[in-house]
Amino acid sequence: MCGIIGYNGIQDPKGILLDGLKKLEYRGYDSAGIAILENNKTLVFRSEGKINQLETKLSTKKFNGSLGIGHTRWATHGAPTENNAHPHQVGAVTLVHNGIIENYLEHKSHLEKSNAVFKSDTDTEILAHLFNQAIKLGLSLKEACLKILPTLKGSYAFVALNDNQPDQMIGVANGAPLIVGLTKNENYLASDVQAILNRTNKVIYLKDGQIALCKKGEVEIFTPEGTLLKPEIKTLHWTADQMEKSGYRHYMLKEIHEQSQAIANTISGNIDPTSETIQIPELKKLQDKLKNLNRISIVACGTARHAGLVGKYYLEKFARVSTDVDFGSEFRYRQPVLEKNSLTLLISQSGETADTLAALRESRVHEVPALSICNVRESSLARESDIVLYTNAGPEIGVASTKAFTTQLTFLYMFAVQLGQIRGVISPEYAKELTNDLMHLPFLVDKTLRLEKQIEEIALNFQDNPFFFYMGRDNQYPIALESALKLKEISYAHAEGYPAGELKHGPIALIDRQAAVIVLATQNTSPKTFHEAGKSDNILLEKILSNLQQVKARGGQILSVGTEGDTVFSKESKYFIGLPKASWAINPILSTIPMQLLAYHIASLRGTDVDKPRNLAKSVTVE
Ligand code: M6R
Repeated sequence: MCGIIGYNGIQDPKGILLDGLKKLEYRGYDSAGIAILENNKTLVFRSEGKINQLETKLSTKKFNGSLGIGHTRWATHGAPTENNAHPHQVGAVTLVHNGIIENYLEHKSHLEKSNAVFKSDTDTEILAHLFNQAIKLGLSLKEACLKILPTLKGSYAFVALNDNQPDQMIGVANGAPLIVGLTKNENYLASDVQAILNRTNKVIYLKDGQIALCKKGEVEIFTPEGTLLKPEIKTLHWTADQMEKSGYRHYMLKEIHEQSQAIANTISGNIDPTSETIQIPELKKLQDKLKNLNRISIVACGTARHAGLVGKYYLEKFARVSTDVDFGSEFRYRQPVLEKNSLTLLISQSGETADTLAALRESRVHEVPALSICNVRESSLARESDIVLYTNAGPEIGVASTKAFTTQLTFLYMFAVQLGQIRGVISPEYAKELTNDLMHLPFLVDKTLRLEKQIEEIALNFQDNPFFFYMGRDNQYPIALESALKLKEISYAHAEGYPAGELKHGPIALIDRQAAVIVLATQNTSPKTFHEAGKSDNILLEKILSNLQQVKARGGQILSVGTEGDTVFSKESKYFIGLPKASWAINPILSTIPMQLLAYHIASLRGTDVDKPRNLAKSVTVE
């Protein structure tokens, strides 16, 4: 949460900083600010609200400097006011920060004893005071850093300027990401690559505790103890045009429509052409361990956890391994029993979610191997895992996760099928059939996306409903949860997702004529798969039909998401969406898509800021 950008080069930093902040806005957007150092004085401009408010404030300003920092905030300590916005300035020091300084109160009370005056409610301001104290003693930015860092507790990244060193900016990453971007005459510091993709593709990923001292045309990287390092310069996989909206009204809509390609990219490289089965090369490293697994603990947050819930169905069915799914925020606090022959599977789009990372570290303590499914290369999760399976979805900018989710499901499918093979649970023929089903997935996703017009019409009818109830059974139950989450986060409508069998245990009390009820009722149209996969789909359709009737009897307005050619659910429902015919394991991936589109179109009709919904940030890097 919070986005940082720093520039040290040869141009006026204003445009570069504002452009970088817009690209980082998905990390937080309740206030923003920039600071530019010119003529040995750093000028600070801040404003409440989104970046365009800051941009308006700066529209007539021109600067002589070529060094500056910027910040977009997601408030943790202190309300989202201009006063609490970054940069924070104390004396000669100006600073932006992401993360939390956990022992800031302790520092604050010491600083108050030496008459420090605080102008904000943030933890960040203590950092600026600490730097200022050190600089007043005659220390340089680097020396001040080395003095202060051992006294800080928490996960953070920050960038600081000193009026007396107008050619330098310094950045530190410790539990929160910070990357250095390099060109011949300029260097950048940023919370993630998206802020600078249009400027350079050469970067250094700072490791925890590392310090980057950016001078004109030169960067030095130090350990927390001050030892000079030879950093590894990486070339980025993503390109600047992936960051554009490409004619779509919102990133979210673009990302929904990218799913066919994103899934194809995720599958690519994981099919063995000789055996025509799924073979994920990265798994070779853990082959023996995987053979003898007796338990998998999936840990993730939000949408990624919903993917994990579908993964449980896949893993238990295809690989016959007992699988738990936990919230990142619960896992480590409940003292999980982590056995020797178990595996922790972390799922995260960003790879920077604080609770998911903490779960990974917890499993490390118990010497349990960690496998992660992640979208962002070189993220903290990717760096710390034993094995990383990259989803290759490309940058996901909309705060509401869409293509990350369906590509996570794709990888979970592949992982479960391969694990089933490794463990000798599924036959080579069955593995081949499941692989064949998967190869058709991008085509089926494409076909599903063509239902958008029909979904837009349903959205028109549902736009004012105050309450949405999503229900599904078996592997469609997590899709009910995910669909409800998608709708609430971008449209602010009250929505609940439930396993349909739970209806009578309470939630049926919520159903009245104003309730929009979405019934996920796809058929498994792959009979062989059905036979081998177990009796979990078509039999349950009869049961969910009874649930539908119970809702209908109470006046709920029903939208069923079923399979094309259906004659039962379409007849009983006010609206019906017929998905392409698919197998049990492919169905949840397909039914996700109309639900994303429904949420998107309802939110658009309600006029919300779809890509930047209120109170949210794309990447939750604090607890
Ligand atoms: O980056 P991660 O996948 O770890 O993020 C996890 C959640 O914060 C994320 O999925 C969140 O729930 C999304 N806003 C949902 O659309």
